[in-house]
Amino acid sequence: MSVPERLTWTVDILDPDPGDRVLEIGCGRGVAVALLCGRLTTGTVTAIDRSRTAVEAARQRNGECVAAGRAVLRVAALGEADFPDRSFDKVFAVNVNHFWVRSPEKELTAVRRWLTPGGILCLSWEPPDTRRAGEIAEAVTAAVTSQGFEAEVRTATTAEGKRGLVCVRAQAACRLLKRTEATDS
Ligand SMILES: C[S@@+](CC[C@H](N)C(=O)[O-])C[C@H]1O[C@@H](n2cnc3c(N)ncnc32)[C@H](O)[C@@H]1O
Repeated sequence: MSVPERLTWTVDILDPDPGDRVLEIGCGRGVAVALLCGRLTTGTVTAIDRSRTAVEAARQRNGECVAAGRAVLRVAALGEADFPDRSFDKVFAVNVNHFWVRSPEKELTAVRRWLTPGGILCLSWEPPDTRRAGEIAEAVTAAVTSQGFEAEVRTATTAEGKRGLVCVRAQAACRLLKRTEATDS
């Protein structure tokens, strides 16, 4: 099965270390989970999707990885998911429109809490209308910076079909950690 370029591109931007704990939001049929399983050694990938059908397909695709404990797949909507603080080093989502068509403040606050200080959040799209990439980048950058992330926008064009790709790569600020360290010393 061919892997959509938006997924390889996003995983490259995410740049997981072999021991990272990664969360995917809206994993669909688990194609990016399979990519990550090939790159992680001691790390894990947790993936959520609100569609039971999608998660079942993702489980089938990644059976070996799930059995080995390196992938955990859950039926959950982002707004209802819960994880302990600092559970993940990296979080990503591809083509999950919630982050730009609605107000994602509540969800981004939760993601920020789940990430380690300095952790990375990548939100990518392959918009059907390439002209919307700028609008998406602007809305998502505003949303993540208002939640204390530092953001940069990456763009690309797919080799096949010449479609536009846009990714907002955001880093959770380390301010909280620094304040704690200063108090301790
Ligand atoms: C367009 S598909 C993209 C799937 C995959 N990321 C890809 O790029 O091939 C969007 C997926 O995100 C899921 N999704 C959308 N909004 C979600 C939310 N708020 N919480 C969890 N999953 C969501 C949908 O069920 C769907 O499987």
